[in-house]
Amino acid sequence: MSRGVGRQMHQTDPNWWRQAVVYQIYPRSFADADGDGLGDIRGIRSKIAYLASLGIDAVWLSPFYPSALADGGYDVDDYRDVDPRLGSLAEVDELIRALHDAGLKVIVDIVPNHSSNRHRWFREALAAGPGSTARNRYIFRDGLGPDGNRPPSDWVSHFGGSAWTRITEPSGEPGQWYLHLFAREQPDWNWDNPEVREDFLSTLRFWSDRGVDGFRVDVAHALAKDMSEPLRSRPTAASGTTPLDGKDPLYDRDEVHGIYAEWRKVFNEYDPPRTAVAEAWVPAARRHAYASPEGLGQAFNFDLLRADWDPDQFRTIITDNLAQAGTSGASSTWVLSNHDVVRHATRYGLPPGTDYARWLMGEGREPAEDQVLGLRRARAATLLMLALPGSAYLYQGEELGLFEVPDLPAAVLQDPIWERTGRRRKGRDGCRVPLPWTVDGPSFGFGPDGAHLPQPDWFGACSVEAQDGNEGSTLSFYRRALALRRELQTYEELRWCDGGTGQVLHFARPGGWHTVANFGARPAPVPDGEFLVGSAPLHDGLLPPDTTVWLRVRPRA
Ligand code: GLC
Repeated sequence: MSRGVGRQMHQTDPNWWRQAVVYQIYPRSFADADGDGLGDIRGIRSKIAYLASLGIDAVWLSPFYPSALADGGYDVDDYRDVDPRLGSLAEVDELIRALHDAGLKVIVDIVPNHSSNRHRWFREALAAGPGSTARNRYIFRDGLGPDGNRPPSDWVSHFGGSAWTRITEPSGEPGQWYLHLFAREQPDWNWDNPEVREDFLSTLRFWSDRGVDGFRVDVAHALAKDMSEPLRSRPTAASGTTPLDGKDPLYDRDEVHGIYAEWRKVFNEYDPPRTAVAEAWVPAARRHAYASPEGLGQAFNFDLLRADWDPDQFRTIITDNLAQAGTSGASSTWVLSNHDVVRHATRYGLPPGTDYARWLMGEGREPAEDQVLGLRRARAATLLMLALPGSAYLYQGEELGLFEVPDLPAAVLQDPIWERTGRRRKGRDGCRVPLPWTVDGPSFGFGPDGAHLPQPDWFGACSVEAQDGNEGSTLSFYRRALALRRELQTYEELRWCDGGTGQVLHFARPGGWHTVANFGARPAPVPDGEFLVGSAPLHDGLLPPDTTVWLRVRPRA
């Protein structure tokens, strides 16, 4: 699929998202202006010059809505307000304005599968009796067995344990059960209810009217559920195991696209139309339905994030996803890190096949993490990713080469996975530790005081202050690559120049932009051309192992 993009994105360009670089901000861990240990809106605002200096096109803000933080803000009390600990609506309005003034688009997270148990409608549902209108906004069922004391089905939560929790009725008696595919504090909405559908359309308009440019749609593949009796057995949580026929009772059901067709109409009420990207952990072959122009328009592709540092895996993933993008008419997306996974500088420093959840729990952390190798490969993978047609999603801190913080003490863990698995899995806090901005000082410049998750001593050396202006730093490398990408990027085309086998991947984009990545153990030759940027320097004119370079190669006369 070949589509043009302007060299400079225009504020009103309806295609701005197609090859955008989007930087994910996890607000509670980005920058803390008021000193309560939680990052906030004013903190983000104070870093706009930094964000603009990176050369990104947009920021995606993870939830900043009122929340008890049972799941880091993905338990939303009110979709149309701001957590007072993070700021106010007026401050978010100002932030959106200031980001726009800096030439950056704004994407917000929308969490439609579940609210929090503190949402006004859930409290109403608890207070109203079984069969009431209020209960019908969520998914309540009677339990099994003569006393109703067994959950209505064997469905399990992503975070461990049953996906059903029993409530106490207003009468004080043990009562019905409600469904929560995640934590018990995250009751699932009933998307068969028109009132729920309408309410979400109001939320989309609420943020679109405030100038938000797009939405990241949380767990987009779970909204439509088959609740017909008897409930079908589904004893595993992983949505990756869904069949390809759209008939699983919980995930990736065909009807879900009816919901997004309604959303699309709202997006298209705006000029330029609002964009959306689906977080849908579905097989690659089912992704295009979410990414269709009649639906959300784009879907996350987590294939690289799950791949080993392996040329065959990378080549296949790139080829397949570009073909997929052609099918949906969307551009592909690329992700190496986000707030849900072990940071890629750590993943690549562990042997292929490492079970990260077990590694995080491991006594003595065996196998040992090779941080030099991990960062080297992370930079090489990033440069390769940034050369691909489509949009790239970066996660805060990866531009500093941050590693996972694997050794957070049990007492500080916040991820509901920890308790829900009976303390058998630590969860995702290790990639959510507040960013280091300065070499030292309280919370390494995150805020005037402490940080809500403790930062390790080595964070200072990774801080923005330590890397800014330092030619060899990961931060300078990201800036250089992102600036060049803006210059080089034209059509969404890629041509393989390698033979399709071997340890080196070589592809070209229009205009003579060549990318060569060496996955092997030996130095490899590179084509003649102008060296633009490398994840590491060339050595004697050769491409060292675990290195990617961009070159400008003139066509032969
Ligand atoms: C998504 C989010 C994750 C959250 C979950 C439940 O996967 O990325 O952080 O825990 O949804 O909302």
